[in-house]
Amino acid sequence: MVTPSRSASAHALHLVFGEGQRVPDTWDADLSHEDASLAQAILGLCLRRWGRLMAYLNPRLKNPERGIPLGSQVALAQGLAQLAWLPGVGTHAAVNEAVELVANRELGFPPHRGLVNAILRKASSDREALRAELEGLSPALDRTPWAERILKGALPQPEGREQLWTRLQTPPSPWFRPLTPGPLPEGLERDARASEALRILPGAPFPRTWLQEGRGMVQDLSSQALMDFRWEAPVTRILDACAAPGGKTTALARRFPKAALFALEQEPRRAQRLEENLAARGINAQVTVGEAGAWMAKGGRPFDLILLDAPCSGSGTIQKHPELVWLGHTLDLGRLQSIQARLLDQAVARLASGGLLIYAVCSWLPEEGEAQAKALLARRPEIHSAQVWESGSHFRPDPLEWPGEGFQGFAFTKA
Ligand SMILES: C[S@@+](CC[C@H](N)C(=O)[O-])C[C@H]1O[C@@H](n2cnc3c(N)ncnc32)[C@H](O)[C@@H]1O
Repeated sequence: MVTPSRSASAHALHLVFGEGQRVPDTWDADLSHEDASLAQAILGLCLRRWGRLMAYLNPRLKNPERGIPLGSQVALAQGLAQLAWLPGVGTHAAVNEAVELVANRELGFPPHRGLVNAILRKASSDREALRAELEGLSPALDRTPWAERILKGALPQPEGREQLWTRLQTPPSPWFRPLTPGPLPEGLERDARASEALRILPGAPFPRTWLQEGRGMVQDLSSQALMDFRWEAPVTRILDACAAPGGKTTALARRFPKAALFALEQEPRRAQRLEENLAARGINAQVTVGEAGAWMAKGGRPFDLILLDAPCSGSGTIQKHPELVWLGHTLDLGRLQSIQARLLDQAVARLASGGLLIYAVCSWLPEEGEAQAKALLARRPEIHSAQVWESGSHFRPDPLEWPGEGFQGFAFTKA
């Protein structure tokens, strides 16, 4: 029997490399805390080092030209990753579990039991040497053309791209926001870059109980700083047009507790999660399942504040979602850009005169950021930039200075 951690990470790798899909948020939801930690470590290593793992395997195959089925690749990658980088996993467990995995009809390729056993046994005879060999392979093997494009988007000048890539290839640290007053859990510390942001000190325990009790939430530093915009005009009606899972809806509700808050989400399952999250935090918002463009186009009373946290490539999130490095080239960026532009136009139509529109994307690509903002200002003469952040009307944390997600925000007001 394959253990739940190895089986969950193998399922996720099949989704990514077999079906070209992203790893779903809930991929490890059924695992115990311990199993989830191991599964996350294995999956993270395989995704971040897939290119090098495959390059290690290739010369060891009888017929490298023909390659091996994905089920064998996954079992071998998982086994090698554990042997090389997870010293806490016993050699016996790493090898045997990989053999069990390849023997599994759904996740493996049973005829390759012998092959997997032979390669891993040999590799396991000197785990240090295995690690050194894998790390000696070119890191460029893991840096796909899409990763290169993201780095260029983040840093138009080449200086610092290596440093950024190194950071993006390590598991990210979570950031938190308190939801109730009171003492903070051990190991959480305030960060001055956002009004409520809390970072976790190295080695501190994850504040599971504090989160479960609704006393705090996970929210990336750049998302929090984005929501620290300065805006003095009265706000009585707010629309969060792309709201799930509700991190920014929560920030809006806390910031403008008296305003009527409307939250849209087109995916029913995500809308349900949004509702659950808001209910757990005691937030009163009218959640509607629907496509934001169509909903806004129906017309109705205008909003004083619209947040459009638009669907995007997610290029700023590759540290948290390393599979995007391997999937980015399949994205239809042109389609995303036209959706963003359409949503922006519809948001403008629903914005009250003198109101604030915040457009945000968790992406470093200029096509989804500056280019969209510039085009909006050019085609809508009633729209002007609004100076709401210290940096002005454009919020773009420095990728080398800020940990966490890559983000861009633009603030507009309507004449
Ligand atoms: C970037 S995420 C939003 C994150 C959220 N603002 C937060 O801070 O927690 C975008 C969300 O918008 C939803 N979405 C994408 N396109 C949409 C559309 N056209 N109408 C409504 N929701 C949409 C996605 O399903 C996704 O949940």
